Amino acid sequence: MANKTEQPRDHWATKLGFVLAASGSAIGLGNIWRFPYKAGQYGGGAFVIAYVVSVLIIGIPIMIAEFIIGRSAQKSPVGAFKQLSFNRAWPLVGWLGVLSGFIILSYYSVVGGWILRYIWESGFHFFKEGSAGPIFSSFLANPWQQLIWHGLFMFMTMIIVRGGITTGIERWSKVLMPSLLIILLILMINSLRFPGAGEGIQFILKPDFSKLTREGILEALGHAFFSLSLGMGAMLTYGSYLDKGTNISSSALEIVVLNTFYALMAGLMIFPIVFTYDVDPQVGPGLFFITLPEVFARMPAGQLVAISFFVLVAFAAITSAISLLEVVVSYFIDELNWSRKKADYVMGTVIFLIGIPSALSWSSLKGVTLFGSRDIFDSLDFLATNYMLPIGGFFIALFAGWILTHGQKEAEIKRIENTFHFYDIWHFLVKYIAPLAVLVILLQKTGVLPF
Ligand code: PHE
Repeated sequence: MANKTEQPRDHWATKLGFVLAASGSAIGLGNIWRFPYKAGQYGGGAFVIAYVVSVLIIGIPIMIAEFIIGRSAQKSPVGAFKQLSFNRAWPLVGWLGVLSGFIILSYYSVVGGWILRYIWESGFHFFKEGSAGPIFSSFLANPWQQLIWHGLFMFMTMIIVRGGITTGIERWSKVLMPSLLIILLILMINSLRFPGAGEGIQFILKPDFSKLTREGILEALGHAFFSLSLGMGAMLTYGSYLDKGTNISSSALEIVVLNTFYALMAGLMIFPIVFTYDVDPQVGPGLFFITLPEVFARMPAGQLVAISFFVLVAFAAITSAISLLEVVVSYFIDELNWSRKKADYVMGTVIFLIGIPSALSWSSLKGVTLFGSRDIFDSLDFLATNYMLPIGGFFIALFAGWILTHGQKEAEIKRIENTFHFYDIWHFLVKYIAPLAVLVILLQKTGVLPF
């Protein structure tokens, strides 16, 4: 169906630009903040293995599926499913993605705000040994502070999305992602000299399978979706800006390798400190914000390193946040004919408002729980990451495996990427293995299955 305001669609200028922009979406707070604390809660190495397995057999096939669907439709999620199938139920998958965008960005922006606050803290006060714990707790307990920084992060995200994504993001990603890599490497090497390094490395690399509960496996699966930005149409939307010549499968592999690499580096940066200073690895979302300032406080030129580090992490967070907002905004542009400006400002504000309860989870709304003993922030993360993304991914895999014709798929990948039976392997994974694996993990967690 033709769109009412048919304009030529923006396209990434180069393959490198696309890979970096998509990596920019994937690499974010998920790798640097979420991965270490989830690994801390769910058994270190065992969690890492479950995560890597999920990435290999579920993440890569679904990422390729999202790129194929996006590029062949040249539309954002809801429109793409409308265009590629006659069945009116499929666009619901796109809707689920838009809803996930609202929810994830609402609390993601709260953590983004913490990073901004830490730039400010490093610049003006700087952390002293042992000061980060108390600073962080009093910051969490202050509702106004939480709202202001959350609002600021959301505002910055809106400004970038307002300007369109291709030239801005593509250009920025090329500079920022490599800079982040360099500074992460420096910090990791520095951490590896701490006395607790051995224990830290063991914790991440040596699996203790007794800790890997059903819940842990579900968390690892959810994290695979979260960290690769899958299951909600973010990669599908980025794929819709691809030109026909770009090799989809090699791009996906590059993005996944980069993403995993950043996560492991973040883990190797944080756990040596955790074990050196006896921080409980299970403290949860605050882990990163309490351990890292300790290193900076003890490093030569620590203040400078701290500022540059938090600035780069803020950029990594923003390149992910824009892809979340872009899914929401592009829906209102493509399907409801809103202007980019209106969609951006209105929806950005709505997402800010939805984020308020999460931002107040540790102050005014302290003690309020939604799912089990989880506070509001954790509950939204739990719902979106462990259920909405995997369910979205399940249907995206089914759509690519069973609904798209071979002709449609081959037009996108086989023509260029006919080596090593790549197409056949991908097709088998996306048609049978990925959906089945997601289904088994989801059902097992709910106790429907007897094992
Ligand atoms: N992948 C991003 C991160 O790791 C978060 C994200 C999730 C972005 C889903 C887009 C879609 O921080």
